[in-house]
This record gives sequence, structure tokens and C-alpha cells, in this order.
Amino acid sequence: MQNSNINNSILPGVKSTIAISSGKGGVGKSTVAVNLAIALVKEGYKVGLIDADIYGPSIPTMLGVRDEKPKLVKIDEKNRLLPVVKYGLKLMSIGFLVDNNEAVVWRGPMAASALKQFMSDVEWDELDFLLYDMPPGTGDIQLTLTQSIPLSGAVIVTTPQEISIIDARKGAKMYEKVNVPVLGIIENMSYYNNPDGSKEYIFGTGGGAKLAEELGINFLGEIALNTNIRLGGDEGKPIVLRDADSTESKQFNEIAKNLAENVKEKEHNQPKLPVIEI
Ligand SMILES: Nc1ncnc2c1ncn2[C@@H]1O[C@H](COP(=O)(O)OP(=O)(O)OP(=O)(O)O)[C@@H](O)[C@H]1O
Ligand SMILES: [Mg+2]
Repeated sequence: MQNSNINNSILPGVKSTIAISSGKGGVGKSTVAVNLAIALVKEGYKVGLIDADIYGPSIPTMLGVRDEKPKLVKIDEKNRLLPVVKYGLKLMSIGFLVDNNEAVVWRGPMAASALKQFMSDVEWDELDFLLYDMPPGTGDIQLTLTQSIPLSGAVIVTTPQEISIIDARKGAKMYEKVNVPVLGIIENMSYYNNPDGSKEYIFGTGGGAKLAEELGINFLGEIALNTNIRLGGDEGKPIVLRDADSTESKQFNEIAKNLAENVKEKEHNQPKLPVIEI
């Protein structure tokens, strides 16, 4: 199946759509997604973020918008949802619309259909980047989701640990199967900075870079294990805003720049596909 062409009438104003993915759960996808999205906003890009983790939406908490609701408006006689805006970022999450317990029992096709509505019924307007915070795993649900959204590419988040790398490899293969290019690997929780300045490699070392080399894709960078990153998520103000001058924020900014460059390069090298008018 070919779905890497984002010249899709369902998202006409969106230049690039990127899935933030992993194989293993809890490696920091959502944390990476919110920080990268805001880092891109700070670079001057127009950015949207879709919480595609229908079963465990964490974006509303991580951005401090748990009580917000998207507004419903009529445009050209059609009902349209306006994304929630926070820190200059346009957001959509199932967490805004349904009780968490309700979504938990949905089957894959229902989740995919909710996600499709986030694209077809939401007024995204013009965006340079639309990021998707994906649910963990490489099973049927994830495969259905990747086939339901027009993706320019995917980014795989992993920790250096072997069990995470094995699942990250599976994640990369899943995107290969649906012809979505993997734009790069991000290694999260790479090390802990000890107070004496030395580094503690809690989850091992070098796994992310090695996997990138093995798969012939870019290594976009590493992020330390840091209390303020966790606090930023819990308090609804990501570290790139909370401690904008910290080393960790700089790591996120650097990765965002690498990613934007990668995407531009890919687009430049790709022959332009004709836009199909419907
Ligand atoms: N670099 C980091 N330093 C410290 N804490 C982190 C870091 N990255 C993520 N965390 C914390 O680890 C926990 C899991 O992170 P997160 O929710 O982003 O993972 P996830 O991959 O999205 O999880 P899931 O698979 O459940 O969607 C959160 O409490 C988050 O604040
Ligand atoms: Mg998550």
C-alpha cells in the first residue's frame, strides 16, 4: 500500500505529516512529540499536534489543557472543529472529546475512524508540520492507524536498552511495510548527568545510533534522562519552555532542526506528484 504521498485532499494545507512512534511503550514518545512540536514553533514554523494515542491520550496533560474543548463552528454550511491552541501549537486529542474509559474499549477500526475525523473535520488551516503522537506497539491497531493517515514520514523513539531497540526495529519495519519513510531515530533517556559532571548510562549506551546505522537512516540525536523533563510533562509546560536555556532544551532544539532539514531534503529529492482534484 502506498500512503507516503501527503498530497492528500483530506489535509490540503499541510506540508508535512510526521508520526512520532516507537515499538515499546513508555520510552518517551509523547514527551518527545510535545517538545519537538514546540521547538519547531520556536523556529517559526506553523505546527499542529494530533494525539493519536486514542487509548491513553497524554497530550492534554503534558500541555496543561485537560479542561479545554475544541470549538465547533460552521464553515460553508459544514460543522468544523477548531483545534485547541496552546503555546502557539494547534492541538487535537481524543482526550478533549470523550471520557478516557470510553475510548479504551474501542476496536482498531473505530480508533482509525476517530483519527480520520481529526484530519477531515478539524480546521487545521495552513501548517508546515503536523505531528502525530502514536500509541505504543506494532500490532494491528498501529498498522491500521499508519494506513489511515497520510504520512510524509515517521520518527522512531527508543531508549538505548536492547529490549527497546528490538521493538524500535519492529516499528521501523512496520513503516517500511506501508511505504512510509523513516526519517530518523531519536534516543531518549540516553544517560543521566551526575552532579559531579560525569554521565551515568543507566540503560546502556549507543543503541539508538547503532540501530540507525543498521537501518541506513539518520540518527537525529539523544536526550538525557532528566527530572525537569519529567516535571515539564507533569506540570503541562514542556522543558523547552520551562527551562528554555537548559542543555536538555538545546538537545530538543537541535533534534527539531535536524528533523526539519531532513524533511526538506526528502521533499527536495522527491519528484512532485500531480495533485488530484476531486
Ligand atoms: N528524558 C526524560 N527524562 C525524564 N523523564 C522522562 C524523559 N522522557 C520521558 N520521561 C517520562 O517518562 C514517562 C513516559 O514518557 P512518555 O509518556 O512520553 O512515554 P510514551 O512513549 O509516550 O508512553 P506511551 O507508550 O504510554 O504512550 C513520563 O512520565 C515522562 O515524563
Ligand atoms: Mg505516549
